[in-house]
Parts: sequence; C-alpha cells; structure tokens
Amino acid sequence: MAKKITISLLKADVGGYVGHSASHPEVITLARKELRKSDLLIDSYVTACGDDLELIMTHKKGINSEHIHELGWETFLKCTEKARELKLYGAGQDLLKTSFSGNIKGMGPGVAEMSFEERKSEPILIFMADKTEPGAWNLPLYKIFADPFNTAGLIIDFTMHEGFTFEVLDVKQDKSIKLRCPEHIYDLLVLIGSPGRYVIKNVYKNKPKIIAATATTTKLSLIAGKYVGKDDPALIIRAQKGLPAVGEVLEAFAFPHLVAGWMRGSHNGPLMPVSVKEAHPTRFDGPPRVICLGFQLSNGRLGKPRDMFDDPSFDLARQKANMIGEYLRRHGPFEPHRLPSDIMEYTTLPKILHEMKDKFKAADYKRIKEKVMRMELEKKVKQRHKIYKKRK
Ligand code: F6R
Ligand code: MG
Ligand code: MG
Repeated sequence: MAKKITISLLKADVGGYVGHSASHPEVITLARKELRKSDLLIDSYVTACGDDLELIMTHKKGINSEHIHELGWETFLKCTEKARELKLYGAGQDLLKTSFSGNIKGMGPGVAEMSFEERKSEPILIFMADKTEPGAWNLPLYKIFADPFNTAGLIIDFTMHEGFTFEVLDVKQDKSIKLRCPEHIYDLLVLIGSPGRYVIKNVYKNKPKIIAATATTTKLSLIAGKYVGKDDPALIIRAQKGLPAVGEVLEAFAFPHLVAGWMRGSHNGPLMPVSVKEAHPTRFDGPPRVICLGFQLSNGRLGKPRDMFDDPSFDLARQKANMIGEYLRRHGPFEPHRLPSDIMEYTTLPKILHEMKDKFKAADYKRIKEKVMRMELEKKVKQRHKIYKKRK
C-alpha cells in the first residue's frame, strides 16, 4: 500500500453565500488553512462549486482511512462554525450527525476516493456539481467509457479495446452490481437510465484491471429520512495512456443533458459546464452546474489546477443550457420540468399533499358507479320481495 497514492475528495454544504448560491471566501480560506496544517497529507486543494465546499486531498493512507475522514469532518465542523459566525445560509446543512465515528460515509458529506500506483504521468480530472444528484454522472460516464461516438479511443486505441467495467449502486437497496462492457451495455443502460435509483459508483479498465473513475453516491434524504438539500455530487477520473484522453472525458459535457435538482431539488434542468468563477447558480437557484479541475499529479502533489471548462469551446454548451433552461422554466410547476411525483416524495411536497388529504371528495365517476350499484341492489331486493310474496 505504501507505494499507492490515494486521492480523497470530501465535500459538504456547510453554509451558503448568498442563500444557496455560493460559498463564502472566508470559509474556503479557513478550509485551506486547516488542511495545510495537517501532516497526514501529501497535498491538498480546496475549492467550491456553488454552496458546496470541496476538499481535495492526496495521501498514502488508502481509501476509507479513519484519519483522513476525521480530518475532513473536523474541517467541515470548523467551517460550519465560521459559517454560523457569518450567519451564512443553512450553516452545517450537510452535517447530519453530531460526532465522528470512524468513517465519514453516512454522516452527510459526499466521498469519492481512489488509490493507485501513480503512472509515469498521471492526468486527473475532478468534476464537481451543484444543484443536482449523483445520478447526473451516469450519462457522461457512459459516454466516456462505453460510447465510441464520444470516445474515439474505444475504437482506435488498441489498449482500450477491451473496454471498461461499471460498478452500479442501487441507492434504495444499498446493493451494487458490476457490468462488464461492451458485452453488457444493454443491461447497463437498463439500470443507469434511471439515475435517481441506479448510480455509477466506479469504473474500472478491463485490462489491466485498474480504477479509472469514482464518484460520490451519498443520498442525503436516505440518511436523514427527509429532504435536507440535494446530494450535489463529485467525480474523479484518470485520463490518457490507455484511458480516455482528457478531451474525450471533457467532450461528454459538451451536451448539457437534463439532470434532477435545480430549484428545491425538485426540477429537471440542463447541466451547464462552467468555469470555477461562474459556478454560482443564481437563476431559479440554477441551472445546475458542473466545474472541472485538471491536475497533473506528481508524486502525489496536486500542484496548480487548470480550470478545464474555462474555454470558449464550451460556450455553445452553456448557450444551449440557457436555451433549454428557458424552455423548461416556461412549464412552471408542471412536469416534466418539475420532477415526477414518486421522486417528489423525497422533497417537501408530501406535507402539502397530506394537508389536502381530507378535503378530497369522491369524484363524479365514482359517485355515478355507486348510484348505479345502489339502484341495481334496490331492483334485486324488489324482485326478491315479489317472488317471496307470490310464494306466500
Ligand atoms: C436546491 C437548493 C435550493 C433550495 C431553495 C429553498 O438544492 O439548495 O434550491 O432548495 O433555495 O431553500 P430553503 O428551503 O432553505 O429556503
Ligand atoms: Mg445549500
Ligand atoms: Mg449545493
């Protein structure tokens, strides 16, 4: 294990500035200071996507390290204190438990971690999104690792020809399945086409068997039992040399596909790829956004990241996202802009429906059916009465 480098990305909404639109610069600075103080890490980088604070850390402690998770948890707690002091909105929103118990999973923050032997050159892309959910990565991950119309290397590059295996999590049952592609593409699509329930957790290269991508899969509502904000996700992808090229990975985001989230975690909207300085969802608390930082890892050192969507070649995707967003917004509270009712169960809507429950009266059709049944019954009773009389 000693040789392996681990990247741990821990993320949480510890308070919004203003409302749920962004993170406060003082909170980001504090998180940076806290991580820099630690001697557990090789390197760290702190950023934010909307109201989500993102702690990117490299170390040699492996995934699920109690020490690294505790460092993340303590940092989130300190940042929450700062958020409270500044009266930021929803301070400590994603910290659902009071004390740390060995692993940050299930406590609210999102976690994505991977360990690997650093290659001769190790390009890493880290995607972070706001106002959406982990299933938002399903479509781009499929395109990156299984669709030759996106990733030319799947066809052209001999070293990628064996394909990739997708590990899919059923978030409701907390069970996962591994599907080797291209052989099981159809089965994979059966599942990941329902991103609210089935979420891609990991992607592995088939030959040699190495980790290629890993994502956060936290479902806050399933931990808290009620709506406590969306589970804004993050994703780590390794690129190049037998893995999709940086440009093939980014290409999947040139299409602003529809994702669940946006206002009140209850609307479908396009996922807009933006630069870090534009990662502040404002219109109708959105539209949902994704940023990407590129790192050229060097012996575990992250170095200075590149802001990958800060490029005019993504202008069209942004423009499309605005057009799609505008079109959807005109639907107001109607589906398919608003999420379907089964997903709304995890929002604040059921409370309203509950209040209305007793005001419902039998509908016309039901009343007529009941009347006809009553009349038929009366007729039968009369007939029986007649027969009875005759017999007498
Ligand atoms: C969505 C989100 C926001 C809030 C909305 C209402 O993930 O964070 O759209 O749901 O601003 O927030 P509250 O209920 O806190 O006023
Ligand atoms: Mg928030
Ligand atoms: Mg958020």
